[in-house]
Amino acid sequence: MLSKKVQAALNEQIKVEAESSQVYLAMASWAEIQPGIDNVTQFFYMHSDEERMHMLKLIHFVNERGGFATVPALPQPALTYPSIKHAFTALLKHEEFVSQSINNVLDIAMQEKDYATVNFLQWYVAEQIEEESLARTLNDKLELIGDEKSGMYMFDRDILSVSVEGGEE
Ligand code: FEO
Repeated sequence: MLSKKVQAALNEQIKVEAESSQVYLAMASWAEIQPGIDNVTQFFYMHSDEERMHMLKLIHFVNERGGFATVPALPQPALTYPSIKHAFTALLKHEEFVSQSINNVLDIAMQEKDYATVNFLQWYVAEQIEEESLARTLNDKLELIGDEKSGMYMFDRDILSVSVEGGEE
């Protein structure tokens, strides 16, 4: 059985994952109307789906542990970005925020001696390491490319294979 505190923290994390899915969905829709970045577009759509999966995993866990997972209201995410680089910088910042949020939930579960939740959250800790690392790699590449059109062509060409190698699920 989940304590009230742990349930509230997990429900907050459900919101964070749902928001992440919305943020990346908006990035995908924006990218889709930019010329020549079809794979970047697909990357954002896939990333949005992944975040929804992270949210669902939490919902099932809360309900299976005798709690009640609440589906949150969400604010509208940023709809446009000044450049692709800006979108990827926002993605990295967002993932750093998610990692912090997971750590907070983990802290609460440890304080409450809820070791089942501590154990469950290990998957998210590992996932965040992968996601932050991938986001940093992509930002480093964009930094090197600058405004070069041929670089952006290669970035788009390679992004899906980089994200698979980077452990993207
Ligand atoms: Fe589920 Fe990318 O945080």
